[in-house]
Amino acid sequence: MANVTRKIGLSLGADICWPLCYEQILDKLKLEIPWRGDTVSLACERVTIEPFDLRQPCQYDVVLDRLTHWYHTSREWIKKAILMDGLYVLNNPWSVQSMEKHTSYCAMMHLGMPIPETWMIPPKSYEPTADLAPTLKSYAKLFDLGAIGNRIGYPMFMKPYDGGGWRAVSRVADESQLRKRYEESGKGVMHLQAAVSPFDSFVRCIGLGPQTHLVRYLPDEPLHDRYSQEQNFISEDDAQLLRDTTLTINAFFGWDFNSCESLRKDGTWYPIDFANPCPDSQVTSLHRHFPWLVKANLRWSIFCAVTKKPFRRTLDWEPFYAIAAKPEMPYRERLRAYAAIAEQRFEAARFEEFCAKHLPHLDEVAWEFFGTEAAKSAFRAKVTALYPKHEVEQFTELFWNRVQAWRTDAKAAS
Ligand SMILES: Nc1ncnc2c1ncn2[C@@H]1O[C@H](COP(=O)(O)OP(=O)(O)OP(=O)(O)O)[C@@H](O)[C@H]1O
Ligand SMILES: [Mg+2]
Repeated sequence: MANVTRKIGLSLGADICWPLCYEQILDKLKLEIPWRGDTVSLACERVTIEPFDLRQPCQYDVVLDRLTHWYHTSREWIKKAILMDGLYVLNNPWSVQSMEKHTSYCAMMHLGMPIPETWMIPPKSYEPTADLAPTLKSYAKLFDLGAIGNRIGYPMFMKPYDGGGWRAVSRVADESQLRKRYEESGKGVMHLQAAVSPFDSFVRCIGLGPQTHLVRYLPDEPLHDRYSQEQNFISEDDAQLLRDTTLTINAFFGWDFNSCESLRKDGTWYPIDFANPCPDSQVTSLHRHFPWLVKANLRWSIFCAVTKKPFRRTLDWEPFYAIAAKPEMPYRERLRAYAAIAEQRFEAARFEEFCAKHLPHLDEVAWEFFGTEAAKSAFRAKVTALYPKHEVEQFTELFWNRVQAWRTDAKAAS
């Protein structure tokens, strides 16, 4: 029987609010978890950026990573620590690096998801290189953009095959706009995708390990109103379908933390954007949903750290493909079977049991914390970083009030 400490590292960039809340709630939980004969406590630290010896050991059991998609020194340090030191990290860095939106569409189309019709087109212009002219001269076929537009139909979306953050996304209403947008697309490799239009509901499903959270999404609103505050906006069947969709995607790609956007038209949910392995985690966009995210992050990282959950170094798609190869199985059943693989990989049942036994006070501790001045000052810090000075108090109050509304509802429901 020994007292041992598991270490969680936060690999951060511009994030401000969630780490402050995460660290303070973790502290308040005062965890001393009996585990396999030991008493396990948790420590949390921010990962620093510095030169490293590839053979130096890693002091963390779990790293919550927010840098891999753009900061390569941290990404490579994480890879080293997975390969050599048994680190568990959210998310799989190889998968974040190589699986763009395009791969995610192709894989999920193969699994049977109703992704809207999507084409890839060669770029309008190129960085001149020695091999470019002979390659294009020999092999690039002239194509009729208008004919492709007619095949897909209007309206459609033109967007980068590896997109994120609404970069270079445009809605295209007709052929003349399509030609104009293509002229403007420069060196970008673009998808053309049939619009789900008109849609009657748009949902973002956030997944964190086996946990999911559905939010109605209003893409035309300003940033602070895009995540709607509505509750109970879809049926339980629809909710389960979206949860199973998200769990499938996340387990397939090794993304413990990801979000999936789906739009509903004529009763069908079309997933359109689900390669988001560094999802928005800020109170300034999530507001009422922010406490869910912080709590889900805490639960999953504590579970992985305490149980020393082994990190899956390979993705292993074969079990998903085996189910996809059963065309006689109705899609909904296949999706459930994929999600069951996800639940197994995320150890859903063991996780629930762990939380019930070892984190029964988390909801209460977090509920208290989100009513404190410390929480409000974390919100204010994020608002200060994003908003002009004269709007800081107004928006801090707005997000604060939405979180207090969540607290009131959570209390009433408990
Ligand atoms: N096929 C589609 N049908 C309807 N709307 C679409 C479609 N594709 C994109 N959109 C709209 O354009 C927005 C941006 O597209 P998308 O989410 O694919 O890009 P992104 O750059 O990955 O965005 P994010 O900021 O979520 O990372 C979507 O939120 C949605 O409002
Ligand atoms: Mg999107």
